[in-house]
Amino acid sequence: MTNGELFSMAVEAAGNSYSKYSGFSVGAALLAADGRVFTGCNIENSSYSLTVCAERTALFKAVSEGVRDFRAIAIAGGSNGNFSKQCAPCGACLQVLSEFCGDDLVIVLSNGWFRLSDLLPIRFGEGSMKC
Ligand code: THU
Repeated sequence: MTNGELFSMAVEAAGNSYSKYSGFSVGAALLAADGRVFTGCNIENSSYSLTVCAERTALFKAVSEGVRDFRAIAIAGGSNGNFSKQCAPCGACLQVLSEFCGDDLVIVLSNGWFRLSDLLPIRFGEGSMKC
């Protein structure tokens, strides 16, 4: 699975985006260590704060199916079918991804790729609560 192929799956997943309030469609494609890909889209709500991002949709789908080991996630965001502009994951999604993914998780965007540690260099985790 190439980064380009994973990004294409994210674009395809954005096709299911339920984003009637923002008009901004997001798709995510999460590559598990076993080669399976879990996709997700953003799902908005009339009570705006209940909106769920595409990345968390994909991650929760995977975890709920017993998968917890991941290699990469591609994220495509845009409107009117244009996904060429970089759509970085929000801080909340980075935090949720960091619960299950190590520093080396590859994050594929429209114009390049990063490691989780590039976008979330310091994180709150289980160890943060230990004295
Ligand atoms: N959104 C995502 O799906 N992922 C992100 O990382 C950032 C934002 C969605 C939430 C909302 O439906 C829309 O983009 C505009 O914020």
